[in-house]
Amino acid sequence: MTDTLADSRTSPRAFAAGVPLVLEDVPRRPAAERAEQLADPGFGRYFTDSMVVARYRAGEGWHDARLTRYAPLQLDPSAAALHYAQSIFEGLKAYAQPDGTVATFRPEANAARFARSATRLAMPPVPAESFLAAVDALVDADRDWVPTGPDQTLYIRPYMLAVEPFLGVRPAHEYLFIVIASPAGAYFPRGVQPVSVYLSEDYIRAAPGGTGDVKCAGNYAASLLAQEQALAAGCDQVVWLDATEKRYVEEMGGMNLFFVRGSGADAELITPELTGTLLPGITRESLITLARELGHTVTERRFDVEEWRSGVEDGSITETFACGTAAVITPVGQVRARTGDFTVGDGTPGPLTMALRSHLLDIQHGRTADAHGWLHQVR
Ligand code: PLP
Ligand code: COI
Repeated sequence: MTDTLADSRTSPRAFAAGVPLVLEDVPRRPAAERAEQLADPGFGRYFTDSMVVARYRAGEGWHDARLTRYAPLQLDPSAAALHYAQSIFEGLKAYAQPDGTVATFRPEANAARFARSATRLAMPPVPAESFLAAVDALVDADRDWVPTGPDQTLYIRPYMLAVEPFLGVRPAHEYLFIVIASPAGAYFPRGVQPVSVYLSEDYIRAAPGGTGDVKCAGNYAASLLAQEQALAAGCDQVVWLDATEKRYVEEMGGMNLFFVRGSGADAELITPELTGTLLPGITRESLITLARELGHTVTERRFDVEEWRSGVEDGSITETFACGTAAVITPVGQVRARTGDFTVGDGTPGPLTMALRSHLLDIQHGRTADAHGWLHQVR
């Protein structure tokens, strides 16, 4: 962030009423460096040239919104987020379209969830139009960072943190809203190979009345030890159970889960219902819509681990997959639990898993009609 307005314009879209979105002249990194990073971006390793930063102060509201050079932040060592984790984030993607334009997927849904996360953490919600203006300004400025390789995207990370220098425990009076972006290839290095999962029986992700249904940084910090435990057990990912009975399947790492009962056109999809301890995934909701349109019954209800195990054993549960923005759809193969391991299907990606995956990716990449108006053209 700089305070110079010398080389800047303002976006035709304001950040908020009376708050312009200043567009600084951001220096571009060399094209060769960008090309090298775009050739094999991985996930979350490289960042684009720019970022958007806006400030909030109680009594003043949102102000000083600017597109500026991607650079380290200066924070007071007593900034509240560093101590009490008043910190939330979102994740969405921009997709290069066949006609050369760039579109984001359902950004309004991310804006709405971001506002809910803010409210839960006693933070000032960023108005949806400000969130959308900031995301668009960043993608527009850095559109040469949107990769065009198969299934490559630009992952966008809006976030907000409390920056007031104060150690008392209460909602901070000062915040930063920031949007950064990172070119992305496959989230899981092995691509669409089924992941093995470890049922977490020692740790929980979320409890009733907690923060499981919002995207706050602390949820992820609290998940890391269980994920380490999963890795130590030879598994790729942790699967979370409900906190009360440790009986119902909730989520896999940072993704929602679906179970397929039966096969073919009559296959039913079951996904854990949103009890307040699960994150309401935008991919989850999109897949529920698409699967119903394809004629499948989709049931949102609690799903017992024993139903999963016995269904796999008697062949009625034929597929399991996880879904989220970062990895889209990932099949689940082996399940490891203290009460005994089991393998879903033959351990290879199931047909409905792969069909839904292609259908959603085709919409996102503009290869098929976007009947729901889910794509938002960045201008
Ligand atoms: N569950 C958790 C805990 C997540 O972090 C995410 C990722 O955002 C999801 C589910 C999937 O949500 P979405 O599909 O909106 O990316
Ligand atoms: C997801 O998009 O599914 C995620 O959970 C993102 C992750 C990098 C936090």
